[in-house]
Amino acid sequence: MHTSEFHSSSRRWPLSLSKAARIQAVLFPCVPYLLVLLEISYNKTGKGKSYLAKELGIMKQPDPFKWTNQIVMNCADIDIITASFVPEGGEEINATGFNYQNEDEKVTLCFPSILQKGSGSLKIDFVGELNDKMKGFYRSKYTTPSGENRYAAVTQFEATDARRAFPCWDEPAIKATFDITLIIPKDRIALSNMNVVDRKPYPEDHSLVEVKFATTPIMSTYLVAFVIGEYDFVESQSSDGVTVRVYTPVGKAEQGKFALEVATKTLPFYKDYFSVPYPLPKIDLIAIADFAAGAMENWGLVTYRETALLIDPKNSCASSRQWVALVVGHELAHQWFGNLVTMEWWTHLWLNEGFASWIEYLCVDHCFPEYDIWTQFVSADYTRALDLDALDNSHPIEVDVGHPSEVDEIFDAISYSKGASVIRMLHNYIGDEDFRKGMNAYLLKFQHKNASTEDLWECLEQASGKPIAAVMNSWTKQMGFPIIVVDQEQHGSDRVLKISQKKFCASGPRNDENCPNWMVPISICTSEDPSCTKMKVLLDQPETTVNITNIAPDHWIKINPGTVGFYRIQYSTTMLESLLPGIRDLTLLPVDRLGLQNDLFSLARAGMISTVEVLKVMEAFVNEPNYTVWSDLSCNLGVLSSLLSHTDFHEDIQEFIRDLFTPIGMKLGWDSKTGEGHLDALLRGLVLGKLGKAGHKATLEEARRRFKEHVEGKQTLPADLRSPVYLTVLKHGDSTTLDTMLKLHKQADMQEEKNRIERVLGAIPAPDLIQRVLNFALSEEVRPQDTVSVIGGVAGSSKQGRKAAWKFVKDNWEELHNRYQGGFLISRLIKLTADGFAIDKMAAEVKSFFESHHAPAAERTVQQCCENILLNAAWLKRDAEDIHQYLLQRKAPPV
Ligand code: BES
Ligand code: ZN
Repeated sequence: MHTSEFHSSSRRWPLSLSKAARIQAVLFPCVPYLLVLLEISYNKTGKGKSYLAKELGIMKQPDPFKWTNQIVMNCADIDIITASFVPEGGEEINATGFNYQNEDEKVTLCFPSILQKGSGSLKIDFVGELNDKMKGFYRSKYTTPSGENRYAAVTQFEATDARRAFPCWDEPAIKATFDITLIIPKDRIALSNMNVVDRKPYPEDHSLVEVKFATTPIMSTYLVAFVIGEYDFVESQSSDGVTVRVYTPVGKAEQGKFALEVATKTLPFYKDYFSVPYPLPKIDLIAIADFAAGAMENWGLVTYRETALLIDPKNSCASSRQWVALVVGHELAHQWFGNLVTMEWWTHLWLNEGFASWIEYLCVDHCFPEYDIWTQFVSADYTRALDLDALDNSHPIEVDVGHPSEVDEIFDAISYSKGASVIRMLHNYIGDEDFRKGMNAYLLKFQHKNASTEDLWECLEQASGKPIAAVMNSWTKQMGFPIIVVDQEQHGSDRVLKISQKKFCASGPRNDENCPNWMVPISICTSEDPSCTKMKVLLDQPETTVNITNIAPDHWIKINPGTVGFYRIQYSTTMLESLLPGIRDLTLLPVDRLGLQNDLFSLARAGMISTVEVLKVMEAFVNEPNYTVWSDLSCNLGVLSSLLSHTDFHEDIQEFIRDLFTPIGMKLGWDSKTGEGHLDALLRGLVLGKLGKAGHKATLEEARRRFKEHVEGKQTLPADLRSPVYLTVLKHGDSTTLDTMLKLHKQADMQEEKNRIERVLGAIPAPDLIQRVLNFALSEEVRPQDTVSVIGGVAGSSKQGRKAAWKFVKDNWEELHNRYQGGFLISRLIKLTADGFAIDKMAAEVKSFFESHHAPAAERTVQQCCENILLNAAWLKRDAEDIHQYLLQRKAPPV
């Protein structure tokens, strides 16, 4: 069945092989069909570092057939022992040479004679390494309830690491079915993409069992997975008949219940949304102790960090619950969008990740409407994407990639957050009904095959009758986004708007003759009904005029209600002044209050308005009740506070923060009240943490009191108060506080608690203690994937921390780079430690450090950091004095 199916799907295959790193199609074989049998002998103690495996690939030659005596495959860190080719009905030919091209992660198998035309099978025996690098087939350490250290063996193949587990054609468009067999110690369990079809004693060694899994559907190598270890699970059946299991560490099955509930609700939701059923008989979700990403969507066996899957009703906080729901929603969406229909090449990675990052919110909104998750999208993804995409060193959503390091590099906020944001804009432009129609057509047309961005546009275009490709190309093929400049005039009962676009640059306006243009869907609302779009236009040129009829002169006009369009807005002074009262009196929607503030903040950073103007707008938020609005405001104040830590009036901005957050802090108090919900819990944590960090006396005292009781075992802190309390006591703490915190860390049974502590340790002020925290980050106490957030926490906490963390990264570069093997965690580390400086010469230093210390997967991140440093420096030079004067003047007694 698969052979013909694959042929029809391979309309673009052989692939457009422009990049050296891709498999060259001129070399035999093109693999229209590949069957892999893996027999992995996993050593009894689980401590073995290598494994023996056999692989059998069944292949058919391409048409037109090229005569050759070579087979080229992807392969990395693998020793091939023997390889042979058996032509159908012919004699076995042994390969006589294995030519490893390590740089390209390939091997060429050389045969003594030309391989005969027709199909045949390729047999390979090889030894692989069970590595400690959290990629390929690797070891993950865990401690048994009795305190013994053991290892699980797990896989992480995306993007290009299946080739580290077995030789293969490791490209998303080279799909195949997989038959997997694992030979494992009999007291362990083995999981893979499919269900187990046979488990029997292994004849050669009775301490082992042979576990055979059902044949997978045709799929890409990066989605193959297997896990061997000791786990407990909880199980349920979704309403559409899929068996769902959540695997947890032994003894913690209860902690899988929340995710199980989300997953069983989510599967039918997607089935209904896509009008396509989940295609496998089962899905497992499993928590892996050592795990680089947040989670990975392996088909039928989704792997997660423990903190992205496990929830303990008593010890998990509201934000963890929300995170688990989002991650489960994200990975399950990939089961359709990504796994069933796969991107043709990594250039279209954004489609996978952008789409999943959008629909995870739709899913959580369905499961937990009380989370008001779409407003949180704007603060978490939309504004983050705008900030990054305003840099000269951003990149288009669709980007040419070849080498694995280039692929690693695009797992960034452009692919995820900008991708999700432009899909949200598109969904809004098309409307839900036609969007779903188009999605359904796309999934049906390309199921079990590969697709590109254009394919999706074509389906959506047909479903909606709108010019989707033309609109979307302007957002995905060119980097950046526009700033929409708006002015108005009242003509009788009409309002005439002049709307124009130009590229928004983080460094301020430029007179660029070749200014790009976007096709911008623009919605407009008025104060008559701020939640209702009064008019829609598609701005497809540099400027236009829009006439709004029947509007009273004293009514305001707002562009982009719902903050859906991916652009910033610059209003004329009168328009802005008319909008601002809507912040104070809350007549603007929360998402629009947030969007307005965020636009102004970024305009200030770009030097287009004064930062003092933004501080005045921020003061209008004193009555703000909404968590997400506060959260975004708090984030921007954090940025400003970090900037002003370079000045000698840092304390004045702390006072500003205290004044702004005190009324809401008083209103909320410390203890939750009956009837409060998820968002109240989040808001209380945010506000108390902010007040505590900024040195609000009463908050600090209460935090210390509660911390003491917590430590003494008198009164355990509720989970939602722990982060703010820990942060507050550390920020104003000494070596005893740090000792206590490290003790709590050691005692913590849940990874969530450990992470909670790790993230705030950097707040400790004394330089020698900062150093202790940095050393702790690289110690055995911290999981390798969490080191980054400990160091990042130090860098983000204070001026001293920033310097110390950067020095620490430089001093320990070898170890850090080696630890992450240049993966995306290294980019994250660089961003967290280098981004916050605000002196020109630091940009030069960062640049020169990475010229001599290569981090190929982080090249763009380094450039972005340098650009940010220069922007910070310019901002400080431009506005510091005015900010200082404003902060002094607002304290002065009125005359
Ligand atoms: N496919 C990714 C996992 C991944 C990330 C693999 C980077 C290789 C490199 C997965 O679907 C994902 O996006 N995970 C996110 C979590 C998600 C909720 C945004 C992650 O790991 O951060
Ligand atoms: Zn994803």
